[in-house]
Amino acid sequence: MNRQQIHQWLTEQEPAALEQLWRRADRVRREYVGDAVYLRGLLEISNHCVRRCHYCGIRADNHQIERYRLTTGEILEGVRQAQALGIGTVVLQSGEDPELTTEWIADLIVQIRRRYDLAITLSLGERGYDELAYWKQLGADRYLLRFETSNAELFARIHPAAAGRVQDRIIILHQLRELGYEVGSGVMVGIPGQGYEDLIEDLLLFEKLDLDMIGIGPFIAHPDTPLGKISWEASDPAQVPADELMTLKMVALARLVCPQANIPSTTALATIDPQQGRELGLQRGANIIMPNLTPPDYRRKYEIYPGKACLHEEAISCHCCLERRIINTQRTLGRGPGCSPNWQRRRERLSTT
Ligand code: 5AD
Ligand code: FES
Repeated sequence: MNRQQIHQWLTEQEPAALEQLWRRADRVRREYVGDAVYLRGLLEISNHCVRRCHYCGIRADNHQIERYRLTTGEILEGVRQAQALGIGTVVLQSGEDPELTTEWIADLIVQIRRRYDLAITLSLGERGYDELAYWKQLGADRYLLRFETSNAELFARIHPAAAGRVQDRIIILHQLRELGYEVGSGVMVGIPGQGYEDLIEDLLLFEKLDLDMIGIGPFIAHPDTPLGKISWEASDPAQVPADELMTLKMVALARLVCPQANIPSTTALATIDPQQGRELGLQRGANIIMPNLTPPDYRRKYEIYPGKACLHEEAISCHCCLERRIINTQRTLGRGPGCSPNWQRRRERLSTT
């Protein structure tokens, strides 16, 4: 797809015309990744964070939240639960927390590998090459790091660099690829100051990076963050709206530019439309759901944005509700790790050369 075609879809308002985009995305999704919806059990293992992202509620300067870090035992219990529920992947997510040392994460990976048979996805922020290499060697399979926006100037504005470090998530994404991880990235839709050209570039960057996983969610203002405090021109026609329609357009277009990618119907989308956000995501290009397995007492504290969907549910009821939603959209439940066909193809190519 070229820039002009993407622009046309992003600004299309006619429901009848959009129906074509939804149908096309759904057809491509079926053709390339099938009807199975794979589950990824999410464990938010620490809400400590040394960074100061202007959008994120767990940023270092937010003193309104209570900080926590799960113990290895609590995490292993979550992984056990994931496996018992038939979930084939566990996602260990945290803020950028230096107390989660290279060795501590390494030990966790080894323990999970020893006891359980699940794919391990890490989402621990911007970490160093050597530790990423080490964790991969010990059995980590995938890594998620959203680039948030392809507009470097906007990114620098909302994501202050860490002291003494060059800021470049794209370099890290290339490193992850080189190390053999399945690589996931993604963006927020409707960041204050984000325009349509930025979304076009986001999609072209997904394609260029040949991503295995793509997470897309609406920006949700958090009152205890700089972006939640400023007043900004949501009515400016050049500003991308942070709404459900624009998020769904991005999900559908991501499916068209990266037909083989695993694309979740995100919690942020379910947060702005609790009734049917998850289902609409699945019907318009997505093929992954990430049930939150963090114990509810901690989950409340992992407040990257307010009003997060499924906040009060026990892992088991949240899981059952999601399974029901999947079945109701006439899809099947994926079993096992559900690797991206893209990554499998790449691996086969490597092993034959
Ligand atoms: N609104 C929506 N998404 C957010 N994220 C962080 N803060 C917000 C917010 N206020 C997303 C970012 C991050 C992911 C873990 O959550 O894209 O990469
Ligand atoms: Fe923690 Fe951005 S605020 S990584």
